Amino acid sequence: MTLGLLLYGNWEMSFEHLVFHKAWVNGQWTESNSGKTFAVVDPASGHELARVPDLDAQDTRNAINVADQAFKSWKNQTAKERFQLLKNWHQLIIDNQPALAELMTMESGKPLTESMDEVLYGASFIEWFAEQGKRIDGDVIQTPSSDRRIITLKQPVGVCAAITPWNFPLAMITRKCAPALAVGCTVVIKPAEATPLTALALAKLAQDAGIPDGVVNVVTASHGKEVGEELTRNPIIKKISFTGSTPVGKLLMKQSADTVKKVSMELGGNAPFIVFDDADIDAAVQGAVTSKYRNTGQTCVCANRILVQEGVYEEFVTKFADAVSNLAVGPGTNPDVAIGPVINQAALNKIQGLVDDALNRGAKTLVGGTTHELGGNFFQPTVLAGVTSDMRVAKEEIFGPIAPVFTFKDDQEAIELANDTEFGLASYFYSNNLPRVWKVAEQLEYGMVGLNVGIIANEVAPFGGIKESGLGREGSKYGVDDYLELKYMCLGGL
Ligand code: SIN
Repeated sequence: MTLGLLLYGNWEMSFEHLVFHKAWVNGQWTESNSGKTFAVVDPASGHELARVPDLDAQDTRNAINVADQAFKSWKNQTAKERFQLLKNWHQLIIDNQPALAELMTMESGKPLTESMDEVLYGASFIEWFAEQGKRIDGDVIQTPSSDRRIITLKQPVGVCAAITPWNFPLAMITRKCAPALAVGCTVVIKPAEATPLTALALAKLAQDAGIPDGVVNVVTASHGKEVGEELTRNPIIKKISFTGSTPVGKLLMKQSADTVKKVSMELGGNAPFIVFDDADIDAAVQGAVTSKYRNTGQTCVCANRILVQEGVYEEFVTKFADAVSNLAVGPGTNPDVAIGPVINQAALNKIQGLVDDALNRGAKTLVGGTTHELGGNFFQPTVLAGVTSDMRVAKEEIFGPIAPVFTFKDDQEAIELANDTEFGLASYFYSNNLPRVWKVAEQLEYGMVGLNVGIIANEVAPFGGIKESGLGREGSKYGVDDYLELKYMCLGGL
């Protein structure tokens, strides 16, 4: 029974060579000690795609020990040697772009065109950090006493844990692992329960690229809590990087405190998308659609609240509702589809709950509003008007294809509304007034600000949040910092 062919009849698959059903430890396919497995399910059809081993704390400890052994030699390779292996890995990912994209769409439901983009996006982190790894330099610092010299070294922290989400099954792994590997760390990856297959394919490609066994390990598990506890409490792990919800991030931080690990946390968002009255409205509509509906609204940086100035409200809302009503819904494997299923029934129920709460409190539906006629995990792309701050959609991360639209009078009100949240990841606004652009950008309490643009993430920019949206930055020249220790050497007696 072959994966994919079973489910999609005549649809031609190219990913079968990248489907693996075991965990990956020390360069070998590995079962769980308990023999337990769990199902990976296609969110579009509800069918089981594969079963993978359900690893426990003891299995995770084994993987950590393996990564620790591998660290002893990996850290001693030259930056240039590691660069070459990472470049090989990058190239293999590019060569397998369609196969990886199809696999990702199968297990996450992401529209195929977006999965194709994610493969390039994910690969770009490997190329970028392969290069950066060659530029990790220490200093010779001016000495305060003539018989001493002061020198700094940067060294890899050691074994790192990467706990990654289902919404970007590939790119969130490479955004964490590429800087780790480039500077000489080894990794234990715990991919989301929903999307382990992409992680396993990536790990196999790392081996094919020549990256030594034990440097990249993938621990598949359905019970993230037990594995997360081992990864956070085990003293061998020196750094943990997590992308996911704020409550889970807080728990991982607490658990990491006993061993004083470095932590990077990319947590929830509640992004405002502000449209000022001097904006190019057509561009703002286009930006709002791409920001809100990317990955069916399931990204941490999706526009969560659309705030529109009173004078342009009618024009914006009419054009926005029109654009949203034209978004095609269906299985991500259909290349014409813009909106796929949400990840599972629980997500669907949460979204419906948010919409119902808004409608009960006086909002009105301009587009959509309920589950899609396709059934299963499909929800109609939805636009809600007349939304106010007391509604749940104003406060919670929606993570679905729902766009609540608010109005505001002036800049002060827009900024107050935008900052009225414990989150501080991404924010966006559209304006053609240069002084306003500067002033508003400076006052937004967010780690990232998109100005007249709806998509902001790439490998060269520092991605991350403030407030309860997280700690640390990923991507960019800053993205290696948390994988390095700074050592100061004082040479005396000269
Ligand atoms: C995320 O939603 O966690 C990441 C989004 C991105 O990289 O653009």
